[in-house]
Amino acid sequence: MRSLALGLFFLLCCNAVRLDRRRPRPIAARGQNETTVQTKPAEKPCKAIPLDFVFVIDSSRSIRPNDYEKVKTFIINLLQFLGVGSDATRVALLQYGSVVQPEFSLNTYTTRAEVEQAVRNMEHLATGTMTGLAIQYTMETAFTEEEGARPAELLIPRIAMVVTDGRPQDTVEEIAAQARHAGIQIFAVGVGRVDMNTLKAIGSEPHSEHVHLVANFSQIETLISVFQSKLCGGDESYLFL
Ligand SMILES: *[C@@H]1O[C@H](CO)[C@@H](O)[C@H](O)[C@H]1NC(C)=O
Ligand SMILES: *[C@@H]1O[C@H](CO)[C@@H](O)[C@H](O)[C@H]1NC(C)=O
Repeated sequence: MRSLALGLFFLLCCNAVRLDRRRPRPIAARGQNETTVQTKPAEKPCKAIPLDFVFVIDSSRSIRPNDYEKVKTFIINLLQFLGVGSDATRVALLQYGSVVQPEFSLNTYTTRAEVEQAVRNMEHLATGTMTGLAIQYTMETAFTEEEGARPAELLIPRIAMVVTDGRPQDTVEEIAAQARHAGIQIFAVGVGRVDMNTLKAIGSEPHSEHVHLVANFSQIETLISVFQSKLCGGDESYLFL
């Protein structure tokens, strides 16, 4: 499990550095000045590895429209660090409220531009919070070969990132444990009044790397730099444990 986490970090690291060299890309957040994602120079190049990456996005009623836009911005900013491509990192996204709504599968798109456009086009469900159901769908459907997941023998890390703002209406412990046991590495990102124990029940170990809680949707962008600085910034030594 740990090596998978490290794999993700390496990937984030390397692509960030490469992108930065080739074409620095301004990120415009709505209503704010343009800012550029800061990437720290890496002492040595990291090895990028392909991932099968599924975003699992809470689309419940409690999320206000402008907060929903912030989640989209977060996803789009994170995409910059995932080398999207059918032979590189494949990305899927599903959102959930009272039901699970798959937006696109691991084999739907082959470029980052297409994925970005699909994220921009997503529409807020504004219903319930069936987090357990969404994790079940992720395990039983999103990560199947029919949906574009690569065969387990290829050892492509399977990563799910669950972004949620509230208490699940169903139980998550058991299904999340099953998903992790099935080889899915889960990152749990909580916003606002999410119960930390729920996030920990969702996320993989070690929780310090997989479970993140921020105060509100404005703060969710800070996680981009959290991911980055964990990677190629400051103390790299833990990456080689
Ligand atoms: C935007 O940038 C201008 C000029 O740099 C600055 O005066 C202004 O305060 C900034 N606005 C915000 C919202 O950061
Ligand atoms: C979001 O949380 C931060 C940190 O607690 C706080 O400083 C900020 O005012 C909050 N923003 C909103 C819009 O509530």
